[in-house]
Amino acid sequence: MKVIVNTNENINGTLVLPLWQDSKNMATGSESGVHRSLKNQIENILSEGDFKAKAGTSMTLAGTEGGKALLIGLGKEDDVNMQTMRESGAKVTSSRGKIHGKTLTVKFHGVEHEHMAAFVEGMILRDYSYDHYKSKDEDNDSDDGEITVNVTCEEGKTVELQKSADLSSAVATGVYLARDLGNAPPNDLYPMEFARQAVEFGSDHDNVEVKVINYDEARTMGMGGLVGVGMGSYRKPCMVIFEINGDKPGPSPCIVGKGITFDTGGISIKPSPSMDEMKYDMHGSATTFGVMKALVASGHKDRVIGLTCMAENMPSSNAQRPGDVITTYSGKTVEVLNTDAEGRLVLSDGLWYAGTHLNPSYMIDLATLTGAVVVALGHEASGLWSNNDELLNNIKAAGDHCGEIAWPMPLFKAFEKEMTDSKIADVRNLGAGRWGGSNTAAAFLKQFVPNRDGTEDQIPWAHLDIAGTAWGAKTNKLVKNGATGIHVRTLHHLITGL
Ligand code: BES
Ligand code: ZN
Ligand code: ZN
Repeated sequence: MKVIVNTNENINGTLVLPLWQDSKNMATGSESGVHRSLKNQIENILSEGDFKAKAGTSMTLAGTEGGKALLIGLGKEDDVNMQTMRESGAKVTSSRGKIHGKTLTVKFHGVEHEHMAAFVEGMILRDYSYDHYKSKDEDNDSDDGEITVNVTCEEGKTVELQKSADLSSAVATGVYLARDLGNAPPNDLYPMEFARQAVEFGSDHDNVEVKVINYDEARTMGMGGLVGVGMGSYRKPCMVIFEINGDKPGPSPCIVGKGITFDTGGISIKPSPSMDEMKYDMHGSATTFGVMKALVASGHKDRVIGLTCMAENMPSSNAQRPGDVITTYSGKTVEVLNTDAEGRLVLSDGLWYAGTHLNPSYMIDLATLTGAVVVALGHEASGLWSNNDELLNNIKAAGDHCGEIAWPMPLFKAFEKEMTDSKIADVRNLGAGRWGGSNTAAAFLKQFVPNRDGTEDQIPWAHLDIAGTAWGAKTNKLVKNGATGIHVRTLHHLITGL
């Protein structure tokens, strides 16, 4: 989607009018390019109160003598917030089928900058669909091709709004990438293919270095968590490390992603209904890659690190078993009681490697880690755990700012105790009972956060469990379906302040 902001009175294509509820008789102005009959029609509908402009509502109009219009309800001006504005903007894109044509003109009147910016962001984010695997229908290509959106507003607001729109477009390239990766079928997107795409990204940008630790290297280095999970698959595991602006040394933000390109559960195999969805078990790594892309696109100048732990969790004669004891990269041993609790195993090596080799100022991991977080929070929010209150508050605030809620969850000592009372190893990968499963998973991860060099203090670390937020449009109106690209925007905002 191409967004051009101006004060032009010339309406191209379909006229889109975002309207406040209760604000009677919204004048369409003296613009040219709108047929008189369409204008009259709009004015009639508004003065009769036939369109109430409630939030989430829309109406399409076809002028009797040509021209089309789309009325978008913004709700009451007093109730509006950034997220309702994003969702109203998304409604424009999702109504595209009813509008046809590739050109729209959105005419704002009396809307403040940040709300217009959110509306435009929503239009852009919703303008995504995954059809790489659909054969092209030659006869019906009306939905193909880039949409051009002319946005008009009062003079004096245009420059700032164009800037916001450009930033939204840049960050959206990262969101789209995360969605593409999350939606990609697992036969085509496996660990070394993800690595190949990352290396390609690195070679496309002078300020990005990408390093891959392959299966043999991971074995030699003693990454028992990554190797244990990935060895059952013909498609071997790897670790991918992104470094942006590596010439600016010093402690830097580090994002760590769970990248299980398919999670069958391994020998502790999952039931078959909905197992296909387990291709999105790599969304933590998809978000990590997406953040890297968003940072590069928005011109970020400081060093940032990304690390993804890639593996396919398969049952086979070479798969790890429940009962195995593995030695992780940290040197700590883990009793594997359930091979389906694999995300924490690959992350244990990722967190330890990041903390000991990559000089992080803080580490944030993202993982579709547990079904239990969906029981706790539904699809409304990701779970957020941290060993550092400041980091936790900053992530929460960034999530609120972006409409991607991260909800604080506890790291009680009792959970850590539960996870460290294995009879034969240092740590167990399964809680003792079935309750609080997302908390015990977080407590497991905490065992693999190294201390700062020469201190007794752990590196600031946070964990986002995105199992409920990374997939599906159940509550997310900014995506049609499938992978959501969750938290690319949160982390981009956290890191850049933009
Ligand atoms: N990838 C799953 C978690 C998951 C569930 C993600 C639903 C998305 C939707 C994870 O590897 C897993 O299987 N977790 C187990 C842990 C259990 C064995 C302790 C779970 O949540 O059941
Ligand atoms: Zn699993
Ligand atoms: Zn998993």
